[in-house]
Amino acid sequence: GTGHGTRHFLDLKDFSAEQLRTVLDAAARIKARRRKGELAEDRPLIGKTLAMVFDRPSTRTRVSFDVGMRELGGETLMLTGSEMQLGRGETVGDTARVLSRYVDAIMIRILDHGLMLELAEYATVPVINALTKVSHPCQIMADLLTFEEHRGPIRGRTVAWSGDANNVLASWVHAAARFDFTLNIAAPPELSTPQPLLDWAKAQGATVNVTTDAYAAVDGADAVVTDCWVSMGDEDDQHRHNLLVPYRVDARLMAAAAKDAIFMHCLPAHRGEEVTAEVIDGPQSVIFDEAENRLHAQKGILAWCLRAHGL
Ligand code: CP
Repeated sequence: GTGHGTRHFLDLKDFSAEQLRTVLDAAARIKARRRKGELAEDRPLIGKTLAMVFDRPSTRTRVSFDVGMRELGGETLMLTGSEMQLGRGETVGDTARVLSRYVDAIMIRILDHGLMLELAEYATVPVINALTKVSHPCQIMADLLTFEEHRGPIRGRTVAWSGDANNVLASWVHAAARFDFTLNIAAPPELSTPQPLLDWAKAQGATVNVTTDAYAAVDGADAVVTDCWVSMGDEDDQHRHNLLVPYRVDARLMAAAAKDAIFMHCLPAHRGEEVTAEVIDGPQSVIFDEAENRLHAQKGILAWCLRAHGL
């Protein structure tokens, strides 16, 4: 939330545990109703329009927000950075104020986190962070939903991250603080978790453990999570690949986690790089449930931002 009552969804750290739980519960309820075919009665966003601003490519985020908004009765508008005056020097502030006169909510994917925050500062309608270089909160809402569907309440459980400490990992750190689970992070020293983020986690009383040893991180973990070696905005260089090879999730690493551990990946994946085909296509992998849950999580987020479904 923000001072003027506009319900932005910018980062998990901005919310209390109770608020996030409310959104997750709504997502689960909306999902259950969809499964029962009760979609037709479940359209609280009739007459509302979501602007979807993409300065970067997307498959899951784009389709899940688009379909999610439509299934809730609303309309969507797809805008790409290069097609907008934003790409020709119009300020983010002016863009925010103009879009706010046309649409009911704005979803934005842009690498520059500061520009996303600036958009939210000037918008008078809710702004949703659909990935910046700093964080990816909507992804982790779907991941939490997925974990709990497969393994029950996440509180007190252990999630292990092996790989580049990127934007997705940052939102996992925020989630660990709010949902009271242990997060073990294995990353190479050169691609490790930013110190301010670890300081934040510590100040929040979160249990976030950092190591350079993937085997130490996954020991006893209920979920093993990784992401691609080259995130949006990174240079695709051999040095990066060399650093990340010891963090590849393979069958041997999965065997060091809890016996019933799930494997998660936000996708897109690169088989043979950050994860072997054997693991990502194997019985412990829940990647397509995770991808599906983007849809249900987006609906919970949209309902919260637009004060629908009693939220
Ligand atoms: N996981 C995720 O955000 O996927 P897209 O980049 O395809 O939206």
